[in-house]
Amino acid sequence: MTPEPVPSLRQLLAFYVDAGVDCALSDEPIDRLAVEEIVAEAPRPSAPAAPRLQSPIAPRPALPANIPATPEAAIVSAREAAATAPTLEALRALMQSFDGCALRTTATQLVFADGNPQARLMLVGEAPGRDEDIEGLPFVGRSGKLLDLMLAAIGLDRSKVYIANVIPWRPPGNRTPTPQETQICLPFIKRQIELVNPDVLVTLGNPSTQALLETREGIMRTRGRWVDYHTGTRTIRALPTLHPAYLLRQPTYKRHAWQDLRAIVTALEATEKSAAS
Ligand code: URA
Repeated sequence: MTPEPVPSLRQLLAFYVDAGVDCALSDEPIDRLAVEEIVAEAPRPSAPAAPRLQSPIAPRPALPANIPATPEAAIVSAREAAATAPTLEALRALMQSFDGCALRTTATQLVFADGNPQARLMLVGEAPGRDEDIEGLPFVGRSGKLLDLMLAAIGLDRSKVYIANVIPWRPPGNRTPTPQETQICLPFIKRQIELVNPDVLVTLGNPSTQALLETREGIMRTRGRWVDYHTGTRTIRALPTLHPAYLLRQPTYKRHAWQDLRAIVTALEATEKSAAS
């Protein structure tokens, strides 16, 4: 029998990339099976200390004082911090130095927002992907290009809308954010919405809809249905719609997205009229 060919490093690397494993968690590899010499404090000459296998789980180093010890403490700390930000720039600075979300340590940078902070329409997605992580801006990859097209279809572009994500750091390998990570990041995006103070909020896809609009219903039921959103200072209209990444996979659903886009135009016109009268 001919032996199975051993995969080359290039093939192995390609597999990792396809599987979404595209970042290392530490610069130095850790050999967790290494044998560690345990030096007895006062070794007896006749009975030298025997080598022992190091526990595969290395003891956790003590956390620096500013890192919340539990997810619950991190949520409280995010809530308290977000509430103190008087402006978007202050919020950005505060998030940049926030230590309570571990995603920050694997992401390249914070992806805060793009677009016009004076916009009347704000769109919120789930989390940055690879391209967003590199550029530091939301929705710049393939789904972002489709989002730009969708906005152009109703006469809008990034100078007229404001775009952000519930999670501002890319989850490693684009994995789904954990419920705890979402809860830790929620106070920041909520404060961001409050500070932008748009007339209309659009949640893109299921995770952003469920997190911001506090529903457990799936996007196929929630999309296209207006709900009230309380910013903290006033109530605005919010509309869930399909995420552009989903539309790339299921292009036949673009007709639903088009209905939602038309509804957004109508809502913007209505708020404009009521402001003028
Ligand atoms: N998907 C999102 O939800 N947000 C982005 O910024 C990019 C892709």
